[in-house]
Amino acid sequence: MILGSALTNSATKAMLLGSGELGKEIAISLQRYGIEVIAVDRYANAPAQQIAHRSHVITMTDAEALRKVIDLEQPDIIIPEIEAIATEVLRDIEAEGLAKVVPNAKAIQLTMNREGIRALVAEELKLPTSKYAFAQSFEQLKDAVENGIGYPCFVKPTMSSSGKGQTMVKSLEKLEDAWKYAKVSGRVDTGKVIVEAKIDFDFEITLLTIRALDGEGVVRTYFCEPVGHIQEQGDYRQSWQPQAMSEAALGKAKDIAQRVTDALGGVGLFGVELFVKGDDVWFCEVSPRPHDTGMVTMTTQKLNEFELHVRAILGLPVLTGLQTPGASAVILSDIETNEIVYKGLDKALAVPNTEIRLFGKPEALKNRRMGVALAAAESVDEAKKRAVQAANLIEILPC
Ligand SMILES: Nc1ncnc2c1ncn2[C@@H]1O[C@H](COP(=O)(O)OP(=O)(O)OP(=O)(O)O)[C@@H](O)[C@H]1O
Ligand SMILES: [Mg+2]
Repeated sequence: MILGSALTNSATKAMLLGSGELGKEIAISLQRYGIEVIAVDRYANAPAQQIAHRSHVITMTDAEALRKVIDLEQPDIIIPEIEAIATEVLRDIEAEGLAKVVPNAKAIQLTMNREGIRALVAEELKLPTSKYAFAQSFEQLKDAVENGIGYPCFVKPTMSSSGKGQTMVKSLEKLEDAWKYAKVSGRVDTGKVIVEAKIDFDFEITLLTIRALDGEGVVRTYFCEPVGHIQEQGDYRQSWQPQAMSEAALGKAKDIAQRVTDALGGVGLFGVELFVKGDDVWFCEVSPRPHDTGMVTMTTQKLNEFELHVRAILGLPVLTGLQTPGASAVILSDIETNEIVYKGLDKALAVPNTEIRLFGKPEALKNRRMGVALAAAESVDEAKKRAVQAANLIEILPC
């Protein structure tokens, strides 16, 4: 690929749809290659917008508004960072050959809806997933649970992320509340919810999987060492790399990730979420983009997940090796304010081998992720301790 120079006639232009903390790191990686970055989000001064060449504030689920901003900027590359996008616009843009959609419009469309990705992974590829059913009414849901799925189970909106609208249900008394919650909390009311049997896993991982050109022009699949993580209320709290696992389980994980990403196609980095118990592995879901748990690679790898995504997008060779064990711990706000101050960075950074990233979000909300602590150490256990310790030393206060 030939690259131009930002802000000149030759510029190679990349548009980020979604400009949060992951988008900010993608923007930094793009700018290291002199690419012109246009950051789009639903609110002003989102993290990636603060460092982009230009930015736009639109409702990204509004097809007309999205098309308008793409026609105005005429990007060469469109990089979705979130799921809540009017994907039919991306399909048209790709079909008209106006820009390269990363990894491609089909993958974006399939992965934004749990129905699409289950159809592909469980029905077409026949890979192991939790038992599941879709329901359009409470009666259907109850019927599915009582005649197959069983308790405990997870009820989720078909379109949502970060655990929104999701409940683990242990008995019939709580099922109706879970149904109502999933119905009102989805990003889009598809009229359907998914119910999944609970998998009693030992641990869960994100297998960062990269489809990239190998230098000879052939697309190959590369894997990072598995990232282990802990989720609370459907959102990640800590991640580490490498997660120790049996060779058999790692082999199965790579096989699942390869088959899913082959089917999705295109180039770029994917976060393949998997559940592991002993030598058994189940597919959970996949992000066709860098994954929040993969932020740990900012301290563990020479090329982090954002740099890998950008290299793959640009048709450049990748390097996925681990340099050191490491961990990440999220920094959450427990207050609501739009005049934020951060205290305790001096203490946090005195914890050996740590780094702190503050995302610069203009507004703090309860449980909103405002930053992340990263730590490297000789062992994963030590790295986890350091990351958590550093994260806990950061105080978020009103000004
Ligand atoms: N069937 C299941 N069995 C066991 N645990 C589950 C199951 N489904 C979800 N979970 C737990 O809930 C977490 C979030 O579920 P999932 O990834 O499907 O939702 P999400 O809203 O897309 O979350 P995120 O955007 O944070 O990835 C999982 O990482 C896992 O810890
Ligand atoms: Mg998930």
